[in-house]
Amino acid sequence: PVPVIVAVDGPSGTGKSSTSRAVAVKLGLSYLDTGAQYRAITWWMLKHGVDVRDASAVAAAADRPEIVSGTDPVDPTITVDGADAAGPIRTQEVTDAVSAVSAVPGVRARITELQRAIAAGAPTGIVVEGRDIGTTVLPDADVKIFLTASPEARAARRGGELKAAGGGQGVDLDATREALLKRDAADSGRKTSPLRKADDAVEVDTTELALDQVVECVVTLIEEKR
Ligand code: C5P
Repeated sequence: PVPVIVAVDGPSGTGKSSTSRAVAVKLGLSYLDTGAQYRAITWWMLKHGVDVRDASAVAAAADRPEIVSGTDPVDPTITVDGADAAGPIRTQEVTDAVSAVSAVPGVRARITELQRAIAAGAPTGIVVEGRDIGTTVLPDADVKIFLTASPEARAARRGGELKAAGGGQGVDLDATREALLKRDAADSGRKTSPLRKADDAVEVDTTELALDQVVECVVTLIEEKR
């Protein structure tokens, strides 16, 4: 069969990663977390003392880090210059800096090229999750999904992840919600390939849905196209 290309976009906390991974596992497809790539390049910039608010400094360094993404949906790996980056890319410091770095056109050009090469090399097809996959990276994707959810549902999900990562410690949900909305506003407001639903994407509001319901819905959409 011809490889199937699936684009999953949407703001933070809508369940993009959980959904995309589960769909890829179910259908035997590869998986790519493009947010992890932007986080990885951001981590490298911070580590090398690049001022992330200085767009020309970020652009000048954009080609330096070597970023390698694994595409196994069960164990998605990411390395930067050969070092495991899976943990460090999830820190608050990286989360706070990533929107500024990902808004730089030279960064997007570099990462987009990596993404297209990975998608083209996936033997059975791939689920690619991000913000601009359906609009810019893979405009000819076979299936395009745009996930949404209420700000409250998104903050609750992100808060749950933070709590799990922090060993069950209390999380300030209001602060989580504000930080998340601020990042989405930055991602939606940037000039170069902002977060936007592609005209031909199917929008799924996940506010009232359990993960397996969202997965079922996406799997059905893919099977209809296959
Ligand atoms: O998905 P995640 O929250 O890990 O993404 C981190 C950040 O990476 C986003 O807030 C956005 O700034 C950037 N990003 C992007 N384009 C993508 C995926 C992520 O600009 N396709």
